[in-house]
Amino acid sequence: MKMWAGRFSKDVDRRVNDFNSSISFDCRMYRQDITGSIAHATMLGECGIIAKEESEKIVDGLKGILADLESGALEINPEAEDIHMFVEEVLTARIGDTGKRLHTARSRNDQVALDVRMYCKYEIKEVMALVRNLLSAIVEKAEEHTDTVMSGYTHLQRAQPVTFAHYILAYAQMFLRDLDRLFDTYRRTDVMPLGSGALASTTYPINRERVAELLNFASVTANSIDGVSDRDFALEFASDLSILMMHMSRFAEEIILWCSSEFAFLELDDAFSTGSSIMPQKKNPDVAELVRGKTGRVYGDLQTLLVMMKGLPLAYNKDMQEDKEAIFDAIDNTKIAVEVFTKMFATMTVKKDRLRNAASGGFINATDCADYLVKHGMPFRAAYKIVGGIVAFCIANDKTLETMTLEEYRSFSEVFEADIFDAIRLDTCVNGRNVTGGPAKESVLRQIAAVKAALEHADAASENK
Ligand code: ARG
Repeated sequence: MKMWAGRFSKDVDRRVNDFNSSISFDCRMYRQDITGSIAHATMLGECGIIAKEESEKIVDGLKGILADLESGALEINPEAEDIHMFVEEVLTARIGDTGKRLHTARSRNDQVALDVRMYCKYEIKEVMALVRNLLSAIVEKAEEHTDTVMSGYTHLQRAQPVTFAHYILAYAQMFLRDLDRLFDTYRRTDVMPLGSGALASTTYPINRERVAELLNFASVTANSIDGVSDRDFALEFASDLSILMMHMSRFAEEIILWCSSEFAFLELDDAFSTGSSIMPQKKNPDVAELVRGKTGRVYGDLQTLLVMMKGLPLAYNKDMQEDKEAIFDAIDNTKIAVEVFTKMFATMTVKKDRLRNAASGGFINATDCADYLVKHGMPFRAAYKIVGGIVAFCIANDKTLETMTLEEYRSFSEVFEADIFDAIRLDTCVNGRNVTGGPAKESVLRQIAAVKAALEHADAASENK
């Protein structure tokens, strides 16, 4: 018989029971559920809503259940309706009728809202730690490659020279924003909903602030109806994870491309690649491909949450039970993706020569050639036209800007002098771009210092939480 069976004359249909049950997935919140109940029971005792001895008995009972679940001495009963009912049932079985006082001034609606918030708070920090590791790996590699010249691309066509350090630091900026977003989501998750009751709070003289304090929440929810029906924090978290996955997926796509023989800019470590069952020569970037593939799945989880919420009247509706599998799936898949991606990235070999060769053959210094003319007084559009003519000449005569003679240059414009060759050297082109955010070594070193400072700041912030 169900705990709520009082007004029913029949047992619930067996298949309805299966359909209704969430224990198979919400059991992973047992720690949050029990910790939340311990705080609730403590507060009930302190406020005189239940007797001090009863409160202590309940707290001890709950601590015992937690310890036994951790050690494996107690197993989750798959027949229970959900984790909340399971814990309460075990408690009552163990300590008798006093256990029945735990649910005073509480509903499963505010209880589940609390559990999911606590779970998300924990996992946001976990994901942030993994992203910080990824950022450290990027910084470390960037430090090794401040002189590794390569071409930057637009439309996947060679465009202008940058360095490998500058290139991967673009991703560092994305992951820093991800950290920032997660931190922001944490703030809005860090609001304690217990005391909202089923939807209209309670008539008992509870102390919500005390529960918040016991559970390390920054504040309490301001409206009981919102308190039980808000899942914005889960949506925000799933959205943060989706954007984070999108960033990794773009990075993964580049790594896949760059591991092909056509590019051959990178080689992955054997531990982070796989072979083919039929083609002996193959070394496949499966890890990167799976990161890209799982991105779609995390978007799906976000979609599940968005659609789940869009038509719900206030306050709690059972539809909201569907929030858990979606958010758990997004968390699980993002966490392993970040972890494995970081290791794959940290162990890959960057082929400096291949990067430089690709940068040398594609007129990526043509802008600098035009800028040379502009710096000698020519309007940019006129210079652009002349260099266009030079590039066409080179293509027709199988030359590059570096292998043109000075005479050939001067046949296009008298402005050219011998120092043009220095002006179009790739290293000159890179190091001339010393503006904030540019690829020059000096600028890149400043970027690296800034990312490191942001990481230290993020480390400190996470310790304060
Ligand atoms: N298992 C439920 C969930 O995950 C717990 C809340 C149930 N509340 C209720 N009134 N049926 O949402």
